[in-house]
Amino acid sequence: MRYPQTFLDDLKRQADIVRVVQDYLQLKKKGANWMACCPFHKEKTPSFSVSPAKEIFYCFGCHKGGSVFNFVMEMERVSFPEAIKLVAEKSGVPLPKLIDDGRFEEKRHEADDVIQLNKWALEFWEQQLESSGDARIARDYLLRREITDETCKTFRLGYAPDSWDALSVYLRQKGATQEQIDRSGLVAKKEETGRTYDRFRGRLIFPVMDIQGKPIAFGGRTLKDEDTKYINSPETAAYVKGRNLFGLNLTRDEIRRNGFAILVEGFLDLIVPYQFGIRNVVASLGTALTPEQAKLVSRFARKVVVNYDGDNAGVQAAKKAIEILLAEDLEVKILVLPDNSDPDEFIRKSGASEYQRQRGEAQPHIQFVIDQAVRDRNLSNPVDKDAALEEVLPYVYEVKSSIQQHEYFVLVMDRFKVPPSERRRYSQRIREK
Ligand code: CTP
Ligand code: MN
Repeated sequence: MRYPQTFLDDLKRQADIVRVVQDYLQLKKKGANWMACCPFHKEKTPSFSVSPAKEIFYCFGCHKGGSVFNFVMEMERVSFPEAIKLVAEKSGVPLPKLIDDGRFEEKRHEADDVIQLNKWALEFWEQQLESSGDARIARDYLLRREITDETCKTFRLGYAPDSWDALSVYLRQKGATQEQIDRSGLVAKKEETGRTYDRFRGRLIFPVMDIQGKPIAFGGRTLKDEDTKYINSPETAAYVKGRNLFGLNLTRDEIRRNGFAILVEGFLDLIVPYQFGIRNVVASLGTALTPEQAKLVSRFARKVVVNYDGDNAGVQAAKKAIEILLAEDLEVKILVLPDNSDPDEFIRKSGASEYQRQRGEAQPHIQFVIDQAVRDRNLSNPVDKDAALEEVLPYVYEVKSSIQQHEYFVLVMDRFKVPPSERRRYSQRIREK
């Protein structure tokens, strides 16, 4: 799989390296070039330069340099083909067919169709929420949860009317074929009759956007305590579960600026903090975090604060998330809010600055894992102590940075009072891994 060279040359020209770099850095004009402080090493005076004429960047400090593609690869931590895609999207240049890969093209068409239908559906649902009489139940609900109009607009919340076919009718009016509708995930099929009906009915709609802000899936929350609190889109050509993080399209810059991301579980655990000004958040949406999601965050920051529920399920999910994040070489902290509140409840009750204070006291992952391991165990009992230690050690061995790993190792050994003569046995296992 590779792109034609002529396309890459064209794209490079059209992309305009200055404009692309400006998405990330504040450039100042200096003669024929543009300058900024280098994003790839620490410095106080700018030695990072961009030459529009040569279509390259170069840092006189750390000597990194290259094309607009190399720049995006470094900034977003993506592969070369992914960087090409990003630059093309930023510049509004359509990607050509990939050489020797017809199937990929087909998928793209199908995915584009799904996204088009999703756009129409979202339009319809937003309009419903804003002005239909039936949507009063949703507007009242939002009021009760203290979600402002502005927030509704930012996250493009909607209301799916309580009807079997209102959306399908709307989509057909827009020109969608039945086949496209069937493949969009927006309808479901009744087994007995083979007939389709709108999947989301009488629900508050949360669109899930990809990183460019295109709607790829939806979650619908019940407004009247039905058994299924949320209904979600199935997988489609445009949506593969576990590849996206909710909110990232809106929070990526803030995550980069802060140098860390707060990882939460639910839609409202992201939306409410955002409304209160805490905007470096992403949500995994109640499913176990995947390696792909961890990779995605790692493009924007090297540190993650996991803020899941404090109940047993939340703790287990947090431990799993730690493993996945460590494997991507991310530094992980754990925040469990008082009284097992979720971020939404906590912030509305106690405010953003109290939340930030709690967040500042988030535990390093190893501390959290130790606390969990020694709970309900008696460390003066050798069997218990051994079991607790074995539970904790994998979270040391998984750490990629050897400096951090060493610190955590010593911390664990001290905490469990392992005598120096014994420590070697454990550190040996790091090398064997
Ligand atoms: N979720 C889901 N299906 C469910 C329950 C939850 O897909 N039946 C997902 C949703 O994305 C939800 C997230 O898991 O946002 C977290 O679930 P939970 O903590 O139960 O919901 P909250 O986000 O707290 O929702 P709310 O505050 O509205 O009750
Ligand atoms: Mn909640």
